[in-house]
Amino acid sequence: MTSATAPSVRPRTPADLASCVELLSDVHHRDGYPVNWPARPAEWLASGDTLGAWVAELDGRVAGHAVLSRPTDDDLAAHAWRERGGTEPGVVGRLFVGPAARGHRLGAALVGHAATEARRRGLHPVLDVVASDRAAIALYERAGWRLLTTATRQWADGRAVTVHCYAGPAA
Ligand SMILES: CC(C)(COP(=O)(O)OP(=O)(O)OC[C@H]1O[C@@H](n2cnc3c(N)ncnc32)[C@H](O)[C@@H]1OP(=O)(O)O)[C@@H](O)C(=O)NCCC(=O)NCCS
Repeated sequence: MTSATAPSVRPRTPADLASCVELLSDVHHRDGYPVNWPARPAEWLASGDTLGAWVAELDGRVAGHAVLSRPTDDDLAAHAWRERGGTEPGVVGRLFVGPAARGHRLGAALVGHAATEARRRGLHPVLDVVASDRAAIALYERAGWRLLTTATRQWADGRAVTVHCYAGPAA
């Protein structure tokens, strides 16, 4: 695949949020991520105890997104990591790349930036991924992430989904 300008990753700005929501809508309709469409998608992307947020650009347009956050009670991988006595975890999430921009290693670059920032802060990168998100699982395993455990998450509407919990490589 060729592109006019090289793919790049940079910190997200407030001005990026509208493009990110548009992209997320495409991803949700195509891939079912996120499983439940958030009532306020911009807040869903920017909420929580966010330690860093990045966008990937391809041909000068926002084409992907990821964040690093402090764990919440819902982050199963953070629980699994702490049970092992590991250092404090940092959660990589809100990862997506627009359908037209896939296969340019934007996803890998976004995860790499978030994991590097976690380590810079003395946190160990962890994440939860729904078992049906096969491209994401392939990406994590290719990047050296290790499966910690598999669990079932109950959504508010009663549906249950299988979630894999991963820990990033040490460096
Ligand atoms: C997962 C996702 C971010 C990957 O984005 P991407 O930019 O196309 O991925 P990359 O080009 O960086 O791929 C990196 C590696 O992941 C693997 N990979 C990515 N997509 C894959 C696919 N569809 N099938 C198999 N392996 C895949 C490959 O090993 C690839 O390495 P390679 O280039 O050496 O072959 C994208 O498919 C996506 O947005 N999916 C929907 C949202 C989602 O599931 N998010 C995860 C939330 S936890």
